[in-house]
Amino acid sequence: MSKTSNINRVDGFAKVTGSATYSAEYKTDGVVYACLVGSTIAKGRIKSIDTKKAEWAPGVLVVISHLNVDKPSGYAKAKDPHNFGQPLQVFKDDTVLYYDQPIAMVIADTFERMQYAASLIKAEYIKEEHITDLQKAKDKEKKVETDKGDDYHRGVQDNYKNAAVVLEEEYTIPTEVHNPMELANIIAKWDGNKPTVYTKSQGVEGTRRSIGGVFGIPPEDVSVNSEYLGGAFGMGLHTWPYEIAALIGSKKLNRPVKLVLHREQMFTNVGFRPYTIQKMGLGATKDGKLTGLTHEAVAMTSSYEDFMEGTVNMSRFIYNCDNVSTRYRIVKLDTCTPIWMRGPGEATGSFALESAMDELAHKLDMDPIEFRKLNYAEKDLEQNKPWSSKYLLECYEGGMERIGWKNRKNKPGSVKEGEWLVGYGMGTGTFGCYRSPTSVKAKFLADGNLVLQCSVNDMGPGTATMMTAIGAEITGLPSENVVIEMGKSGLPKGPTQGGSATTSSVGSAVHDACNLLVSKILGLAVETSTFKGMAITDLAFANGVVTSKKDNLKSVSLASLLSANKLENFEVENVSKATEEAKKYSIYSFSVHFVKVLVNPNLGKIRLAHVVSCADIGTVINQKTSAGQMYGGAVGGIGMGLMEALEIDHRFGRPINNNFADYHVPVNADIEKQEVFFVNKKDPISNPMGTKGLGETALVGMAPAIANAVFNATGKRVRDLPITLDKIL
Ligand code: MOS
Repeated sequence: MSKTSNINRVDGFAKVTGSATYSAEYKTDGVVYACLVGSTIAKGRIKSIDTKKAEWAPGVLVVISHLNVDKPSGYAKAKDPHNFGQPLQVFKDDTVLYYDQPIAMVIADTFERMQYAASLIKAEYIKEEHITDLQKAKDKEKKVETDKGDDYHRGVQDNYKNAAVVLEEEYTIPTEVHNPMELANIIAKWDGNKPTVYTKSQGVEGTRRSIGGVFGIPPEDVSVNSEYLGGAFGMGLHTWPYEIAALIGSKKLNRPVKLVLHREQMFTNVGFRPYTIQKMGLGATKDGKLTGLTHEAVAMTSSYEDFMEGTVNMSRFIYNCDNVSTRYRIVKLDTCTPIWMRGPGEATGSFALESAMDELAHKLDMDPIEFRKLNYAEKDLEQNKPWSSKYLLECYEGGMERIGWKNRKNKPGSVKEGEWLVGYGMGTGTFGCYRSPTSVKAKFLADGNLVLQCSVNDMGPGTATMMTAIGAEITGLPSENVVIEMGKSGLPKGPTQGGSATTSSVGSAVHDACNLLVSKILGLAVETSTFKGMAITDLAFANGVVTSKKDNLKSVSLASLLSANKLENFEVENVSKATEEAKKYSIYSFSVHFVKVLVNPNLGKIRLAHVVSCADIGTVINQKTSAGQMYGGAVGGIGMGLMEALEIDHRFGRPINNNFADYHVPVNADIEKQEVFFVNKKDPISNPMGTKGLGETALVGMAPAIANAVFNATGKRVRDLPITLDKIL
């Protein structure tokens, strides 16, 4: 990818000038305004709910609760497409399953009247004992009978216990909340029995299936628009009760209904990264060869859905160790269901594994990178397959040089800058490279533009820009002539945006469709133009013109080719999917995060003096958008390491810090110098472009890098995130 490898973000102008239309901003005639009223207990039943005052308030059109709801016909059997169990059936009955669960919805003619009326609703409850504290409930763990919940063993079980040098520690991460800037929002309307929604979804097709299931209608009858997203980080991977509520209200009134959650509801109603307790057992020989690795995790889920993620999976393959055991369990708590968040599973798992690796290196008095290199996995021992490509060593080298690793000393607290203690730390990350079947339509118009269509959406990583770059590269058109249509149903079916798989899935489909389009054009040229009778292989197509490779004086424009054939445009639609060959390989992205911290020994203040994130993501399609995503992902990891935690008051099962003043995320001033580095070598197996995926590995490994740097600076090992100053004093 040459001339397109650094194009600007194609939706950048629309986003920064305000012309990009987010879901709640669609102009909809006759739209009315809805909000949800939440329960004030965490578990029990609604004894009574008084909606009369709200109903009589000016402008109120309806108040819906379990007492008067028209239950969607699919409630009895609807499953979430992700198959975790039974999603919350909003307003179904008088049961309360978590704090702030919607118990009523007010719809009024203006936003202000809706808000006022909502304040008039009062409920009384029959309380039951709730539990929201995983530390107290961890014994109630549950084995989930799916392949995700399976125990894993390779070699001798718990062999680490027999090693010369043993490390056994427990690590915890708190609940963290996605909190994209754009609030969860929807406009819902019905045309007879066919709904249309503008909603914050990471998967148009998945949302169609969820809504279709709840209302007992075919997914094809559900229109979903989710063209622009102001971030999501995983919260858009589930269809939430607020979306169903808006549809129920719209159906009842036969009017378009707009519902935007307020910030507090973003902490209670749309998922989060689950609180997780992890136990690591590592064993090594005196000279640093790993002889046993055991990784056990217990994570929270809700009482009604079994959410699971690959928390322990990285430990099975990232190091060369013959004896590996992993175990993963979940515990039902009285909260909303968790959902994948920024590097799901591995982000949590890497904190335990990469902290433990650092601790063991310290016990062995080895440099942590030397220790990792000594245990470098030449192949994937879990799947017993070769890597498709692996440039992890290049990531180590690239980061060591940039961060100044040579200045690091193994003994904590031995480097100082003025009164500040200096610490260096690193953490390894990885994430699977997935590719799902994707349909793309590529269409040449007579005006010289290429239109690429796919229902996939772009929540911010630069999917539209990637599609533009690949389409422009293959057709030889300037990127300005590529038009992307995406993020809504009715277009060729694309995947959900998530799991770092979009470029691999959609990029490949764009690649294949554009190549097919070009070859069909050349086919048309040898049948109907001045090139009649020539071999296709002797022709080239670039910038809307067919030329002969032998005699470049001759040329035929696409426009004249179309008009000669009485065609208004020329299009192909093509489905691309993973190859059989790819199944023979283990395909992962790799990353290594390096951190230099300065810690004030008197105040406990931690400064991030320098952060370097290095990644092997295969081919980099676009340097700008990829770097942007890597910076952003790394910042997410810094939040995880130093700031983010949802604090629950377990007496009431309710969050305390449900706003941006009290739930902290990093800002520019928190990071003094940040760099990213890509190895940028093509993977020969993954897909036609040789990409491997970036979004998740941009974060995985950052939190332990910070913990390891703080230890190197202070000698204090923090095993429960986030690393706040009280923990190191
Ligand atoms: Mo990502 S957590 O798959 O949006």
